[in-house]
Amino acid sequence: MRMAPDITEQDLRSSNTLGLPARAAVLRIRDEAHALALSALADAGREVFVLGGGSNVVMRERPRHLVARVELRGVRLLREDDEAWEVEAAAGESWHAFVDECLRRGWPGLENLALIPGTVGAAPVQNIGAYGLELDQRLAGVTAWDIPAGRRVDLAPGDCGFAYRDSLFKRMGAGRWLILAVRFRLPKTWRPVLDYPDLRSHPALAGAATPRAVFDAVCAVRRRKLPDPAVLGNAGSFFKNPVVPAAVAEDLRARFPGLPMYAQADGGLKLAAGWLIEQAGWKGRRLGPVGMHERQALVLVNHGGAAADDVLRLSEAVREDVLARFGVALEREPVLLD
Ligand code: EPU
Repeated sequence: MRMAPDITEQDLRSSNTLGLPARAAVLRIRDEAHALALSALADAGREVFVLGGGSNVVMRERPRHLVARVELRGVRLLREDDEAWEVEAAAGESWHAFVDECLRRGWPGLENLALIPGTVGAAPVQNIGAYGLELDQRLAGVTAWDIPAGRRVDLAPGDCGFAYRDSLFKRMGAGRWLILAVRFRLPKTWRPVLDYPDLRSHPALAGAATPRAVFDAVCAVRRRKLPDPAVLGNAGSFFKNPVVPAAVAEDLRARFPGLPMYAQADGGLKLAAGWLIEQAGWKGRRLGPVGMHERQALVLVNHGGAAADDVLRLSEAVREDVLARFGVALEREPVLLD
């Protein structure tokens, strides 16, 4: 079969933060015409996978999917009123660089999400969150390309189906929506979000914290706790923190008093998966070329030379041990490109 002109076969090892070997057919998306071409290919039966920064994906070596790589760029102030700035960023921008640029241009509010790897377009897919803030708390809207329908759609925050590390975009699979741009509403009355213990107790944030000081503190905490993907391949938290009903949590609390848990709005309790994994004996432990990180047991790391099967084997072993010991089923956070 003849390939369409813009599709090239590419090595994706440096396009996934786990550093897994992968080669796939790639279509670069630099304008809406490319999105239309993608829809035509999907319509003709090609399976499509939209790739952002590759920081939340486990890639097989020879994926059958056509990979759409989003390379749209640009950051602009859309409007401002007395209460807030509304800022729009194109999906291909680096998330961390965007947060930094917002601070430099005088639009604070995203600083708790500093240093999260990946792109702006990927951020709503898993509703990124860290250090007391989740993306949906600042989101004003998403412009997305509906791949099967072949048209652009503006989605209000309420249309995006956000939940903890989840959204409509994630639930519908990586072949349904291509995010083109994301809009944020950043309140002019800035208040630091310092609920997370490591920030509350941070010396640089005592007294009058500034947005830049919060940004720097978040970067410092992340650098201390989480491995840098450029040095040690990883995809951040490999599992979600499981949410269980109150009755299950009570039973667990009685048996395991040290297990950290956090009350949720729906009455359930979120358990610290890192604690469960550590107690199951997996912190710092390896299985072949992969292992669970020695400082943060929730992060699966590639010590060198791993492929997707190694990652999935370890993740299954961890899942089974946690299930056997605590009766809690862990759910994988990254998606599989196969
Ligand atoms: N813990 C352990 N052992 C470990 C790791 C953690 O006992 O090896 C305990 C900690 O002592 C703490 C609790 O688990 O009491 C929570 O740990 P931490 O504060 O490090 O956060 P987390 O729940 O493991 C979540 C997010 C991170 C985010 C941090 C900070 C998820 C799945 N992960 O991690 O997000 O940066 O909170 O807000 O929600 C990501 O999603 O990729 C990610 C890195």
